[in-house]
Amino acid sequence: MERTLSIIKPDATERNITGQINSMIENAGLRIVGQRRIWLTQKQAEEFYAEHKEKSFFPGMIQQMISGPVVVQVLEGENAISLYRGIMGATNPAAAEEGTIRKTFALSIDRNSVHGSDSPESARREIAFFFNHTEIVG
Ligand code: TYD
Ligand code: MG
Repeated sequence: MERTLSIIKPDATERNITGQINSMIENAGLRIVGQRRIWLTQKQAEEFYAEHKEKSFFPGMIQQMISGPVVVQVLEGENAISLYRGIMGATNPAAAEEGTIRKTFALSIDRNSVHGSDSPESARREIAFFFNHTEIVG
């Protein structure tokens, strides 16, 4: 069993498709074991995405992440990290495979609907960023 952090981004909460995205997540065999709807501050978003702070897309990406509410959630399952990355699809929805969340719902690379941890180390850090152990109930 493995856990990963998922974020449903503002472009998706704005379009009221959190349920449709979570259906795809649950249909893939992942269980949502922690969940909260929040509005990120700029400071939180910048700290969460610190690894990207030198990238040219960083300012626009932060603005996008704080443009509306997000749903932060912990997903649990076998190989949850790579399984979820797989059903998310490529960062750029134009390159995402048919049937993935991003192919189905994302509007563009900077409005790509979902986040998912990319390694065990980032999953640990990102889950702890938003949740304490009493808020994750498997
Ligand atoms: P990244 O971690 O590379 O992608 P992923 O979300 O698939 O792990 O980038 C983080 C986010 O930054 C990405 O989801 C959307 C945004 N972004 C852009 O807006 N433009 C870009 O060129 C890239 C690479 C990312
Ligand atoms: Mg990433």
